[in-house]
Amino acid sequence: MAHTRTAIIAGNWKMNYGLKQAREFVQEILPALEQVVASYPHILSILCPPAISLETVHAILSEKPVPHIELGAQNMYFEEKGAFTGEISPLMVRELCSTVILGHSERRTYFGESDEQVNKKTLAALIHGLRPIVCIGENLEQYEMGETGEVIHTQIKGSLANLPTQQAQEIVIAYEPIWAIGTGKAATGEGAGKVVHLIRHLYGEMYGSEAAASLRILYGGSVTSGNISEFIAHPDIDGALVGGASIKADFVEIARKMVETMTQVVG
Ligand code: PGA
Repeated sequence: MAHTRTAIIAGNWKMNYGLKQAREFVQEILPALEQVVASYPHILSILCPPAISLETVHAILSEKPVPHIELGAQNMYFEEKGAFTGEISPLMVRELCSTVILGHSERRTYFGESDEQVNKKTLAALIHGLRPIVCIGENLEQYEMGETGEVIHTQIKGSLANLPTQQAQEIVIAYEPIWAIGTGKAATGEGAGKVVHLIRHLYGEMYGSEAAASLRILYGGSVTSGNISEFIAHPDIDGALVGGASIKADFVEIARKMVETMTQVVG
C-alpha cells in the first residue's frame, strides 16, 4: 500500500457476541492489539461489534484510550430519529463510534438494500461526522461471467453519488467479492488488486485525482493471517475488512502480519 494513506484493519463481527462475549473477547485481544497498532504509525484498527454490544466495547476502549483503535457500527439508517422500528440513527452511532460499515453484501442480499439506500446512508454518515466504509463487490455468477468491472462501476456510481467534494476523501471503500465472503476462498492479491485499481480509477473520474489518491480501499473476503500479506503488499490495497477471523485471536495476528509487510514494503 502507498505509505501516504493510513492502513485500516477492520473487524466485522456480524451477528456474533452479545454483551458478555463481547467483553470477554475484547479483553482477551486488546493488550496484543494495542501493541501491534502502537508499533506502526500509519495503522488504524476498527472493531465493529453488533449494535447492542457497542457500548460494552466502548466502555473498555475508553478505560485506557488507544489512539489507533476505534469503534464502528455494522449498519445504520439515514434518518436522524423517528418512527423507524428496529433501526439506529447516525446520531446514535456517533455517540459511540467513529465509523460505520454501509452496504455490506449481507445487507444488500438479505435485507434488500439498494445502491440508492446505501448512498443515502453514506451521505448521512458524512453529515454526522462518521467515516463510512462502503462495501461493494460482485457475486459468483457475475464473477464467472466476467461482469466484475460492470458491477463495480454501477455500485460505485450509485452508492457513492453526490458526495460533497471536500468530503470525498474521507470515504473508505471495501471491495468484497461475494464469492469470497465466508467461503474460505479468498481472491488473490493480484486479482483483488486489479479491481481495487479500477475502483480508484472510477473514483478519480467522479471526484478528481486528489480524492482518488486519498481514498482508502480495503479488501474483504476470507482474509486470515495466512493471506493478508498478499493483499497489503499491493500498492492500491490499504487494508482489510475481516469477518470470520475478526472474532478470533487471529485478528491480532492479521494486524501483526499487516504491519510486518508494510514495514518491509515501505521501510
Ligand atoms: P469473511 O467476511 O472474512 O468471513 O469472509 C468478510 C466480510 O463479510 O466483511
